[in-house]
Amino acid sequence: MCGIVGYVGQRSAVDVVMGGLRRLEYRGYDSGGVAVVGEGGLSSAKKAGKLANLDALLAEQPLPDAGTGIGHTRWATHGGPTDRNAHPHLDDTGRVAIVHNGIIENFADLRDGIERSGRELESETDSEVVAFLVQERLAAGDDLAEAVRIVCRRLEGAFTLVICDAQNPGVVVGARRNSPLVVGRGEGENFLGSDVAAFIEHTRDAIELGQDQVVVITADDIVVTDFDGAPAETTEYTVDWDLSAAQKDGYEWYMLKEIAEQPKAVADTLLGRHDADGLLQLDEMRLSDDELRGVDKIVAIACGTSYYAALVAKYAIEHWTRIPVEVELASEFRYRDPILDQSTLVVTISQSGETMDTLMAIRYARQQRARVLSICNTNGSTIPRESDAVIYTHAGPEVAVASTKAFLAQIVACYLLGLYLAQVKGAKFGDEIARIIDDLDRTPAAIQRMLDDADVVRKISAELAGATSFIFLGRHVGYPVALEGALKLKELAYLHAEGFAAGELKHGPIAVIEEGVPVFVVVPPPGRGEVHDKVVSNIQEVRARGARTIVLAQDGDDSVVPYADHLIRLPEVPTLLQPLVATVPLQIFACEYAAQLGHDVDQPRNLAKSVTVE
Ligand code: F6R
Repeated sequence: MCGIVGYVGQRSAVDVVMGGLRRLEYRGYDSGGVAVVGEGGLSSAKKAGKLANLDALLAEQPLPDAGTGIGHTRWATHGGPTDRNAHPHLDDTGRVAIVHNGIIENFADLRDGIERSGRELESETDSEVVAFLVQERLAAGDDLAEAVRIVCRRLEGAFTLVICDAQNPGVVVGARRNSPLVVGRGEGENFLGSDVAAFIEHTRDAIELGQDQVVVITADDIVVTDFDGAPAETTEYTVDWDLSAAQKDGYEWYMLKEIAEQPKAVADTLLGRHDADGLLQLDEMRLSDDELRGVDKIVAIACGTSYYAALVAKYAIEHWTRIPVEVELASEFRYRDPILDQSTLVVTISQSGETMDTLMAIRYARQQRARVLSICNTNGSTIPRESDAVIYTHAGPEVAVASTKAFLAQIVACYLLGLYLAQVKGAKFGDEIARIIDDLDRTPAAIQRMLDDADVVRKISAELAGATSFIFLGRHVGYPVALEGALKLKELAYLHAEGFAAGELKHGPIAVIEEGVPVFVVVPPPGRGEVHDKVVSNIQEVRARGARTIVLAQDGDDSVVPYADHLIRLPEVPTLLQPLVATVPLQIFACEYAAQLGHDVDQPRNLAKSVTVE
């Protein structure tokens, strides 16, 4: 979603802001803009399309040198992705410039009020009203921070706002409600960003802002208040990754780099979670063992790829703990009057920690007195902050819009949670838990093997060139893997791709199989007996109807060979861990296939990295 940067310091604000916007490109956007305030007042530039268009405009019409600036990459919600709707928005006197992420729900009323006073707004956005309202307060004599606070109290919905004033060089004001904003503390300079990537090049010292807070930055000072002007508490932290983690490192795409980082993401997520006897310890678990012993139902909530991680986790957690696990799409959860109480543990899974659907589900669950544990990859983000407990995945920054390493790390974190519950509840003996952890500790090497075998997948991708519809099948934990394989391909290649539970095929979807349709099948390890054999039968069923089969099967499983047009071998791992290896070739396939079609793999059309609107 929209990326936001604010800067006050001695350097060229245009350079710092444009650098920050480039780091935020991964969030997904369709226009960009920048405004600076210097001794000569306020100047701005904005352009639809990629930042290269804005760069070209700035080269033609450079903005003046200034040490104060704000910038924005916009992911269109209200109003199309045009120059006019791009941010920053200025009021009609040109005094105030604002950038906004989120949705101002009462903008129509506010707009009516402004228009009734005879002023004209230019864009179709919900954001522009803020520039006018702040300017009105400044004209009435309020200082910039107070003007922003007063206006924030009138706004409904979700917003991060960053604002500058032509008559106040050296000051940028930010505000947030239900939408992320972090502060970067520098030396003789300070930053605002929709996430730390905006300023990671300059500082790793960050300040997490709370709900309904306003921050004023100058070169030497950072002052945070609530919307009423009372001093507010904030949390300072040091970002545990640096610029190099957010760069491509010689890979053609961030996505390829992130796929390659998966052995490390899994190893880092497992790191320090167990002692020499295999006894688990989850340091960030803020729920007591007594509270966890009282849990009689788990509801796992997430969106997209994170939702599929929850689907995988259900199999393992129910198996290990005998606690029932319901898995819910966050965007559906609170609309169905879910049954929750104090003994329900709601587990939310989110890479970004900012997904609005998931955040709203958490708030709803907490109102119903359920306890919420979040599994999250982004330190200091809103979802873990609003949860009772957290398990951080340590996948490092995920820049490509399509999630890869976060998915594997989420599965691992869910498994740690399941094993921890089993330990606390005594549902498994210590040595059984230790054995599973040993198996988990071996998965980074198995994932590496899948990366080393990537050429097999590349070859298949080239051989399937021209196909426009793909089916993915799996059973048991292979089913969510099939869903994830289809989602990756849809997102990146913009082609029809669907995942099904292999056994469900005969109940309808088999009708879409026709000559040459590629069908990926994730085969459980042969040790799974019946379920393995059923999947092998499913391969035969689709092949008999003309499908071209791409079979993912364990080393040495020769039963599939006669029915596989293409074979991808998987290393031997326990069934519940198979998703950690079987997902990898599907990610590589989607990436290769999309690249073959000439698509931008890291920033697929219409998508945003963190979806901060409902
Ligand atoms: C798919 C993808 C999305 C996200 C979803 C949830 O590749 O990236 O489906 O998984 O938007 O995002 P988080 O995990 O940040 O809550």
